[in-house]
Amino acid sequence: MSKGKVLLVLYKGGEHAQQEQKLLGCLENELGIREFIESQGYELVCTDDKDPEPSSTVDKELQDAEIVITTPFFPAYITRERISKAPKLKMCITAGVGSDHVDLDAANERKIAVTEVTGSNVVSVAEHVLMTMLVLVRNFVPAHEQVIKGEWDIAGAAKDEYDLEDKVIATVGAGRIGYRVLERLIAFNPKKLLYYDYQDLPKEAIDKLNQASKLFNGKDNIVERVENLEDMVGQADLVTINCPLHEKSKGLFNKELISKMKDGAWLVNTARGAICVAEDVAAAVKSGKLRGYGGDVWYPQPAPKDHPWRQMQNKYGAGNAMTPHVSGTSLDAQTRYADGVKSILNSYFSGKHDYLPKDVIVINGDYATKSYGQRK
Ligand code: NAI
Repeated sequence: MSKGKVLLVLYKGGEHAQQEQKLLGCLENELGIREFIESQGYELVCTDDKDPEPSSTVDKELQDAEIVITTPFFPAYITRERISKAPKLKMCITAGVGSDHVDLDAANERKIAVTEVTGSNVVSVAEHVLMTMLVLVRNFVPAHEQVIKGEWDIAGAAKDEYDLEDKVIATVGAGRIGYRVLERLIAFNPKKLLYYDYQDLPKEAIDKLNQASKLFNGKDNIVERVENLEDMVGQADLVTINCPLHEKSKGLFNKELISKMKDGAWLVNTARGAICVAEDVAAAVKSGKLRGYGGDVWYPQPAPKDHPWRQMQNKYGAGNAMTPHVSGTSLDAQTRYADGVKSILNSYFSGKHDYLPKDVIVINGDYATKSYGQRK
């Protein structure tokens, strides 16, 4: 008899899982934690059958699971309804960063802990943000498509191609990812770096950016905190979203906020798809209000075939730098979050519950982080 059930929900790896052993985050490789879980006397059930609610394997297995492990890349949405049908559930672990796919309020009401492997993929995402900015600003996609099609039309690509240098770049959220994006942007000699966040960046963090800018680019005081989001987006050539999804950030980038942005600005979102109103973004790209939009997060995931961001284009047939949700799941990141999940489980199984404070999102009926919005 097992002590309890651990439910693990991962995407299918198929032939890729056979080709690459380091692909730990897929169904076949089970984060490399089966042996460990079974050695602790627990049963492990691993599935990719998460939709639709309420008739999937997740719905069936969750009913007597003690722990559920999910990822943001292929999220099993742990809704209030699913939680209400899972009386034994004690902990939801996110293999990665961002636990908005769990109904955190419902988890709190039931005193279910929600943990994640904070920091495990923040560099991976920051790199993806920089890549997406360059792909959009340098108009990479249409130029690359020409190469494949055997074409050579310099003007056709150059008419929508700019430099990142000397642009005003703004981040919504300046936490682990947002700050790393700002750090990496110094190398591109921006005109100004703006941030909007509930929380101040520490003085040393701002000094570090300003000093690097002075040293490499001869420009001082380039970092500025802007108190009002509309003011900030109105000043920026490029806006990047790096805050969690919660009730205050859901649908934040709608028609109204986008109308306050500079004409022809670029928008990059690797945070969560639902922070933007999909139709409003696609319409803004089509009209030219936005020169382009890119990122890797969608709602729902997997994105339906007719999601407006799949075919979205600006008037030049460009301005789309979307990928499936891959930024935080590089092979390097997979090793880190697989290790992190194991150490959270270790802490749980040992009965010590001595989790790293940064990994805890909600516990004992309350939020343990300020990142999911301002609370009294
Ligand atoms: P973090 O907790 O270090 O930083 C988040 C920051 O956003 C905090 O400073 C917080 O005060 C701020 N914030 C919260 N709500 C805000 C709002 N409405 N406006 C402005 N600022 C706000 O989190 P981290 O590690 O930087 O990750 C941020 C988010 O990025 C995650 O919650 C997740 O949704 C997303 N993410 C995406 C990944 C991907 O693969 N695409 C991987 C990892 C994270």
